Amino acid sequence: MPTVTMTVNGRAVSGEAEPRTLLVQFLRDTLGLTGTHIGCDTSQCGACVVHLDGLSVKSCSMLAVQAEGAAVTTIEGLSNGELQPMQAAFREHHGLQCGFCTPGMVMSAIDLVNQNPTPSEHDIREWLDGNICRCTGYHNIVKAIKAGAEAMAAGGKR
Ligand code: FES
Ligand code: FES
Repeated sequence: MPTVTMTVNGRAVSGEAEPRTLLVQFLRDTLGLTGTHIGCDTSQCGACVVHLDGLSVKSCSMLAVQAEGAAVTTIEGLSNGELQPMQAAFREHHGLQCGFCTPGMVMSAIDLVNQNPTPSEHDIREWLDGNICRCTGYHNIVKAIKAGAEAMAAGGKR
C-alpha cells in the first residue's frame, strides 16, 4: 500500500492509504480525527469540509493521495486552548442543534470570511449552498457566521 505524507493541523503525518482511500477516511480512520464527519459520501452535504492549503474542500470528494504534501486543517486544528472566534460565535448564537453538520459549517464559514471579511446574509446563504443542516438550523447558523466574521475582523482571526 502506498504511504501518504502530509501536514495535518501543523503536524507532519504519514500513513498507508490505498489508491482509492478518500481523504476523509484517511483523516478519520488512519489519523483518528473524527471531528470531520461523513454525511453523504457523495459530495452533497458538506459535513466533511476541511481546509487544504487554506481553502475549504469536501474531503469525501478527493483521494488521500491527492493531498500528498499538502497542509490540511481539520476542526481539531482550530482551537489553541480557546475556541477559534467562529467556533465561539456558533456556541454563543446557538448555531447548532445536533451538531453533526457543525464542523463542516465552521470550516466553510472560516474560508468564506478569509475570502470575504464582511459577508452579507445573502453572501453567507449563497456560500452555504454546499452545506446541509438536517436540523434546518440555518437562521442561527447565518447569525453565528455574521458574528464570527465580525470577531475575526476584530483581530480574532486564526
Ligand atoms: Fe462529504 Fe457529504 S460527506 S459532502
Ligand atoms: Fe443537526 Fe445541523 S445541527 S445537522
